[in-house]
Amino acid sequence: MPLPQRPIPIVGGNWKMNTTRATGSDLARAVRASAEAAPGVEVVVFPPFPYLMSVGEILKGGPVALGAQDVSERADGAFTGEVSCAMLRDCGASWVLAGHSERRHVIGESDALVNAKTRAALAAGISVILCVGEKLEQREAGQTNVVNETQIRAGLAGVEPNALSCLVIAYEPVWAIGTGRTASPADAQAAHAHIRKVLASIYSPDHASAIRIQYGGSVTSSNAAELFAQPDVNGGLIGGASLKPVDFGQIIASAKR
Ligand code: 13P
Repeated sequence: MPLPQRPIPIVGGNWKMNTTRATGSDLARAVRASAEAAPGVEVVVFPPFPYLMSVGEILKGGPVALGAQDVSERADGAFTGEVSCAMLRDCGASWVLAGHSERRHVIGESDALVNAKTRAALAAGISVILCVGEKLEQREAGQTNVVNETQIRAGLAGVEPNALSCLVIAYEPVWAIGTGRTASPADAQAAHAHIRKVLASIYSPDHASAIRIQYGGSVTSSNAAELFAQPDVNGGLIGGASLKPVDFGQIIASAKR
């Protein structure tokens, strides 16, 4: 029997609350060039809301997809400051992040809200990167797998198997985000393997092996290749290093198989 093919790796650049219109445009041009030089790697960038349109113009017709860092779970109406799925689509965004640790732990989003956003985006035809990951104290208490499983099961509640082609999971241990402390390749692999097991139990082994699971948390051009070489790591979600055009280009190139 042929071995199942590994899914196409996917690398995301989460710019968070950084860049200006000018620096974001320069960065987008550089990412486009890097992605054009690395066919076989899917690339998506997540600029701040105000720059979606200007970055989208630069990416138009090229291999880099446009994503938003957040979305409202509601369709429209009196929700000051919120941005809907329809607005994102109107601005050319085809991806969105849900459950990022900064939204869970700094802004205070619950599993239920993360699930509502995930479902709303998928229903609107927007692909979702659902982010999960444990805090340091949870890791030290041996709860890594339990936390990831809880966040996956809650985040995907009510998500039908036919929506899974538009879903990516990002494992981002909270203690590794922006800290310069990366999970070891073996630790990342162990967490990813468990996440895949959970996906298999919710859906099926075939669905689970087709879902990309990215690693995120202090990925750099120096450690990316080793992390991406792990069998259950299908690319990365990059914060700080995605703001550095040369480094991010190297990270994209290191995801190539
Ligand atoms: P850093 O790469 O800066 O650690 O951030 C990771 C992240 O949060 C990506 O979403």
